[in-house]
Amino acid sequence: MRLVLATHNDHKVTELSKMLEDLDVEILSVRDLPDLPDVIEDGETLEANAVKKATAISAATGLPALADDTGLEVEPLGGEPGVFSARYAGPGATYDDNNRKLLAALEGVPAERRRAVFRCVVAVALPGGGVRTVEGRTAGSIIDVPRGRMGFGYDPIFLPDGSTRTYAEMTQTEKNSISHRGKAVRAARGLVEELLEDAFREVPDDPRN
Ligand code: IMP
Repeated sequence: MRLVLATHNDHKVTELSKMLEDLDVEILSVRDLPDLPDVIEDGETLEANAVKKATAISAATGLPALADDTGLEVEPLGGEPGVFSARYAGPGATYDDNNRKLLAALEGVPAERRRAVFRCVVAVALPGGGVRTVEGRTAGSIIDVPRGRMGFGYDPIFLPDGSTRTYAEMTQTEKNSISHRGKAVRAARGLVEELLEDAFREVPDDPRN
């Protein structure tokens, strides 16, 4: 069976592929498939965006598709940037722009109040129209000086609870083992396994033969 990862983000493709590598599935990304529609992430929730991406790419390719949408919800900012995490500092914002804006917004907020949660919603869609979602969350806090060079996005300023290292100071395997996306994808693996079972279920012998 082939499964399309409905994302143009190479970091996400790396993380998702690693977590699904032991399944008997050929993983493709939208980059492997020309002429796919650009999906505008204009939903009001992470769920809406994940479903929109997965269903659009599944319909366009005729293959099952998996999409994730992620948001960082920062408690003292009333849950911002949330669904707007990618463009927090404006359209075309870089990861650094977003991190700087977030650190500026939290200036003067003491460490114990800089609580945040990463939420990741994964949607798996079928060409026939079915779609299911699962969610993963990791709680932590926003530090005041970025640390680490791995990962992407808000990784250098997110310190997961129970860790002395930011996401950006972790190897891919370490991050996946505790991250919001790791938790969501481990839940989504069940959905992919169900798909596989359906795809390879043997057609029972016809008793008339
Ligand atoms: P997206 O809409 O799911 O692509 O994610 C929105 C934004 O959240 C991205 O542009 C990143 O800045 C950030 N983000 C998503 N996943 C992660 C992650 O695993 N670590 C850090 N930042 C992330």
